[in-house]
Amino acid sequence: MHLSLLQSLASGLTAFPLLGAASKPGPTIYHIPSTPQNGTAQAQLISSASGFDAPKATPITNSSFDWWYFDVASNNPADLASITIVFFTTTQQGFPFTESSSATPVRISGTYSNGTLWDLTLDGDGSGATVVVDGEATSGNWSSGVTWHATSTSNYLITLDTPRLKGAITFQSVAPAHLPCGADAPGQNLEVGPRIGWANAIPDANSSVRLNITGTVLAFDGLGYHDKNWSDLPFTTNVASWYWGHARVGPLSIVWFDFLDLEGNESVSVYVSRNNTIVTASCSPGSIQVRPTGSTEQAAYPPVVSNPDPAGYRIEIVGGLALNISVLVPAVPTNPFYTRSIGTISTMVDGKFYSGRALFEQFKLVQS
Ligand SMILES: *[C@@H]1O[C@H](CO)[C@@H](O)[C@H](O)[C@H]1NC(C)=O
Ligand SMILES: *[C@@H]1O[C@H](CO)[C@@H](O)[C@H](O)[C@H]1NC(C)=O
Ligand SMILES: *[C@@H]1O[C@H](CO)[C@@H](O)[C@H](O)[C@H]1NC(C)=O
Ligand SMILES: *[C@@H]1O[C@H](CO)[C@@H](O)[C@H](O)[C@H]1NC(C)=O
Ligand SMILES: *[C@@H]1O[C@H](CO)[C@@H](O)[C@H](O)[C@H]1NC(C)=O
Ligand SMILES: *[C@@H]1O[C@H](CO)[C@@H](O)[C@H](O)[C@H]1NC(C)=O
Ligand SMILES: *[C@@H]1O[C@H](CO)[C@@H](O)[C@H](O)[C@H]1NC(C)=O
Ligand SMILES: *[C@@H]1O[C@H](CO)[C@@H](O)[C@H](O)[C@H]1NC(C)=O
Ligand SMILES: *[C@@H]1O[C@H](CO)[C@@H](O)[C@H](O)[C@H]1NC(C)=O
Ligand SMILES: *[C@@H]1O[C@H](CO)[C@@H](O)[C@H](O)[C@H]1NC(C)=O
Repeated sequence: MHLSLLQSLASGLTAFPLLGAASKPGPTIYHIPSTPQNGTAQAQLISSASGFDAPKATPITNSSFDWWYFDVASNNPADLASITIVFFTTTQQGFPFTESSSATPVRISGTYSNGTLWDLTLDGDGSGATVVVDGEATSGNWSSGVTWHATSTSNYLITLDTPRLKGAITFQSVAPAHLPCGADAPGQNLEVGPRIGWANAIPDANSSVRLNITGTVLAFDGLGYHDKNWSDLPFTTNVASWYWGHARVGPLSIVWFDFLDLEGNESVSVYVSRNNTIVTASCSPGSIQVRPTGSTEQAAYPPVVSNPDPAGYRIEIVGGLALNISVLVPAVPTNPFYTRSIGTISTMVDGKFYSGRALFEQFKLVQS
């Protein structure tokens, strides 16, 4: 019932593409065209009382970006299945890695149980994307046939109805939402790095993936994750390198971010929760350190474009938590600037050894 209300509002909107700023109570509808807009983008960098997952950079010009990122990795140690879906609103000038000339592509990549990689980019039919925000309930409908629907920041449903890909993915949160420097609250800093906003609605979730990819079934349960990031400046303006990832290991859900800007300043964010309660959530310098491991070249820090991808990572978190990650398989096609992988993560908690599953990435954009 609620969904059909949103649908009728969403379909009515196409005639009024500038209706985005309605301030009366009730759903706010944003229409994001598939071509970049003129003008100067504004980015929200301080949190408000609602709209955790609302669009945060408007309009999408040639220099702004805003996207909604989702992933799921199997938590069965014998299963290498994973999927990542990114609902982009950006041009290639805003973010150079979408491989699309549309400003509203959906990028999907995944691994089958045997680790074999697949990926596709869906440009849509040119009618752009619609996002509906009603307090903490949000939905997104990209014209390629991929949608998300959330009743709160705890429950998401993605549906895919495209020629090559059909099915659904669910997310039932097991870890509270957070912002770069702590728990969700109004008036908080949203910057995870210079002018880069970040809001992590789902640090960890129980997820199920049921997809049919042109006749091949991909079905698995695992750990899910959802965040969004945005900026009013092109991505490459400030980023030299970064490490990001999430994991579930033993009783802990963990999200990390360790970023170097072009002046060599390091920005970090760490999140640890246990039994759906935040244990650590901080952006204080030194609260976490993420470093690549492997051969001397793989472990080079700061990394440059010519360094081979790391074999793993070492993560040290304030309070004495240390974790080791080893890469299992890549989750995106080979790219000199960017790698995303699934891997095994291990740590000691309360004197016991645990091993779990992680999904993580590295950007390195500096030539030498
Ligand atoms: C998405 O939008 C299209 C076009 O307006 C509509 O046909 C479809 O039902 C919508 N999907 C959802 C899940 O709202
Ligand atoms: C941007 O401005 C130019 C010049 O005024 C105009 O021709 C063009 O249609 C505008 N583009 C958009 C997307 O509004
Ligand atoms: C965006 O950049 C492209 C390529 O440089 C250019 O053709 C287009 O006019 C720009 N659009 C806007 C709205 O500035
Ligand atoms: C891996 O699994 C996929 C999906 O079942 C299959 O299409 C592919 O041939 C398999 N690859 C290998 C190397 O076995
Ligand atoms: C998530 O899955 C775990 C392990 O399968 C289970 O113990 C837990 O109750 C589930 N939590 C929710 C919120 O579904
Ligand atoms: C998967 O989709 C194909 C068409 O692409 C269809 O023939 C097949 O029956 C579907 N399989 C399942 C299990 O739904
Ligand atoms: C930002 O975007 C990347 C790339 O899509 C995504 O994997 C990551 O979760 C986001 N993280 C942060 C900290 O912005
Ligand atoms: C890097 O840190 C220095 C010293 O704190 C500061 O002056 C400078 O603005 C920072 N650079 C960026 C890009 O934030
Ligand atoms: C987890 O939290 C629930 C609800 O607060 C509580 O009842 C339960 O005892 C906790 N479990 C553990 C293992 O701490
Ligand atoms: C992590 O790796 C270090 C260095 O190889 C090793 O000493 C330590 O025992 C490992 N810890 C865990 C929990 O795997």
